[in-house]
Amino acid sequence: GEARRAVRAADCGRARRARVAGAARPRPAVARSVPDKTVAAAAVEVVEGHHVDVVPHVPSNYPHFTPFIENVEQYRAMYKRSIEDPDGFWGEIAEEFHWERKWEEKHTSWNFDVRKGPIHIEWFKGGLTNICYNALDRHVQEGNGDRPCFLWEGNEPSDDSVMSYKQVLDEVCRMANYLRSLGVGKGDAVSIYMPMVCELPIAMLACARIGAVHSVVFGGFSAEALAGRIADCKAKVLITSSGVMRGNKKIDLKGIADRGVELAAKEGHEVPTVIVREIKHAVPRKDTKVVEGRDVWWEDAVAGQSTEAEVEWVEADHPLFLLYTSGSTGNPKGVVHCTGGYMVYTYTTTKYVFNMQEGDVYWCTADCGWITGHSYLTYGPLLVGATQVVFEGVPTYPGPDRCWQVVDKYKVKQFYTAPTAIRSLMRSGDLYVKEHGRDSLRILGSVGEPINPEAWRWYHDVVGDGRCPVVDTWWQTETGGHMIAPLPNVWRQKPGSATLPFFGVLPVLVDEKGNELEGEAEGMLCIKQAWPSCLRTVYGDHERYQTNYFAPFPGYYFSGDGARRDADGYFWITGRVDDVINVSGHRIGTAEVESALVAHPKCAEAAVVGYEHPIKGQGIYAYVTLMEGVHQSEDLRRELVASVRSTIGAFAAPDVIHWAPGLPKTRSGKIMRRVLRKIATKQEDELGDTSTLADPAVVQQLVELRGK
Ligand code: PRX
Repeated sequence: GEARRAVRAADCGRARRARVAGAARPRPAVARSVPDKTVAAAAVEVVEGHHVDVVPHVPSNYPHFTPFIENVEQYRAMYKRSIEDPDGFWGEIAEEFHWERKWEEKHTSWNFDVRKGPIHIEWFKGGLTNICYNALDRHVQEGNGDRPCFLWEGNEPSDDSVMSYKQVLDEVCRMANYLRSLGVGKGDAVSIYMPMVCELPIAMLACARIGAVHSVVFGGFSAEALAGRIADCKAKVLITSSGVMRGNKKIDLKGIADRGVELAAKEGHEVPTVIVREIKHAVPRKDTKVVEGRDVWWEDAVAGQSTEAEVEWVEADHPLFLLYTSGSTGNPKGVVHCTGGYMVYTYTTTKYVFNMQEGDVYWCTADCGWITGHSYLTYGPLLVGATQVVFEGVPTYPGPDRCWQVVDKYKVKQFYTAPTAIRSLMRSGDLYVKEHGRDSLRILGSVGEPINPEAWRWYHDVVGDGRCPVVDTWWQTETGGHMIAPLPNVWRQKPGSATLPFFGVLPVLVDEKGNELEGEAEGMLCIKQAWPSCLRTVYGDHERYQTNYFAPFPGYYFSGDGARRDADGYFWITGRVDDVINVSGHRIGTAEVESALVAHPKCAEAAVVGYEHPIKGQGIYAYVTLMEGVHQSEDLRRELVASVRSTIGAFAAPDVIHWAPGLPKTRSGKIMRRVLRKIATKQEDELGDTSTLADPAVVQQLVELRGK
């Protein structure tokens, strides 16, 4: 509760001071040859006052661990080449894959500057390949068909199954053939709305095999959100399931999908075919409503299909998938990623950041509905040839030790999760962790939001017993793969910093005017040149792509995040600088929540801000002005929250509704969110300049209505 929040705030304060202090007093380097737990723990030296004392440019020393890269000098040399000679650097890596036709020697080109014409990016020009072939067939042909590909772990610990690479390939081919039989082919969009069963990545790979463009919609989205996404890409097929169990809740996914298809039709797009996978343990066939002539069971669809399906060789820049993501304005955007660059980049980051070898057992807890589940579940690890856990459940069911029980069950080597999960497990106490050996663990990954130093230390010291490096990976839906992340055991870490850029990534900090900042600085995080998995467009709206990402600072891709660079060149991501909130690693646009609230007939106006939340990272705080004559009540509060749930999804439900007779606006009518953020966090003594407010009295009113 309150005390805990205070501790965390104080902790962050200390971390901030440590950052300001910048370069710490150097400590003697630790010799690499001493494979000792205390030495390993000393790689992250936390001294009095949580001042983080590190020696950068000296590898940390974790036992049983040989990175692909020897030391930071080797990284620097490779990094330099990746920036100066992207054609050569990435071309050499691309040689590891099968290309039906090779790319041209000078295969990259891009324009990142809106002043010089349309934004345009090209990788592996002239090349023809297929990512499904490289993720599956290649391993089978190399004699590794029997290697486990997916270790499926159900919601109930007693529910599990294994699929080998060959079995996955067979099922992918059968589905690919069925999709072809429906007339789905190169460039057609397929929406996928499924829980975490193996058929979800299988459906994605089947699309990739035939050159169709998949659009996965996270299973937690509402019917309305699904409808918008189906209609936007004009999906030829929807692939879904009968239901899903999440913890002890049964979710009628098919019912939501049916509504989604109905609503999409109202928006002008009819989906002719819906493929339904039966999830027996949630909703069996007999309890599932079937629409005759439209719905077909997955099992029936693939029965009788051949386990061989011709590969559609596609140009390197052929779109692989769309993934809708929230921005500060408007509807979610369909981010488009293309085959060749995405394939090479997700492979390379998976290999180096997770220090992953073929056959390693790896577990990423993300859902395939988000970019992490695309790049670091469906694609990257399969391209490497790893064995991975596909987890249907939640980290806290049936108990808070589920993750560590699963880690031991499969001997997981690399574990990848979000800070929100780490914080919630940390809250349950160390005993749940220590009940399980976790001897197999080598690397712990973090993604989705800034990790606070306190959670970082717990992850490192308790979960990893001080012997597993933490890789805090900063990236985005748009970037396709890791952008700033530690290469484990190559350089020293600092809890809370994503450290240094990956190969090919040239991050810069700019000020409000777009001037590049040098050395130790804090500013807006931009990327200066194209990397292989950079988004290529916003589906159906290239203009919006340019306006959103390239117009704010001409010459740069703008991430929407703020960051600080310390004296060692380490990056510290400070969070979004736009109107996007990050709740439990889920990206939510304030504008989307506001329009969901305003859609309620009793709501006149709404303004939404994020506030620090001890578990979720950020919570959603909504100011609501009611229509004339409508009175606030607990029932109305519930209705408003329900309205957001049904428009977006449960994960976007506001945590707080603050009744607001008026909102602080400038004379030109712009809502001053800065003021609303301060009121939400009870920092009204730090409001700053409010002289431009049309009615300054609104502020006091809001403070009084909030209560203490
Ligand atoms: O604000 C950053 C935060 O998540 C945003 C991207 O969200 P999304 O596109 O949903 O992708 C999440 C998975 C990559 C970023 O703009 N973010 C992501 N990873 C980190 C992070 N913030 C700080 N540290 C991270 N490691």
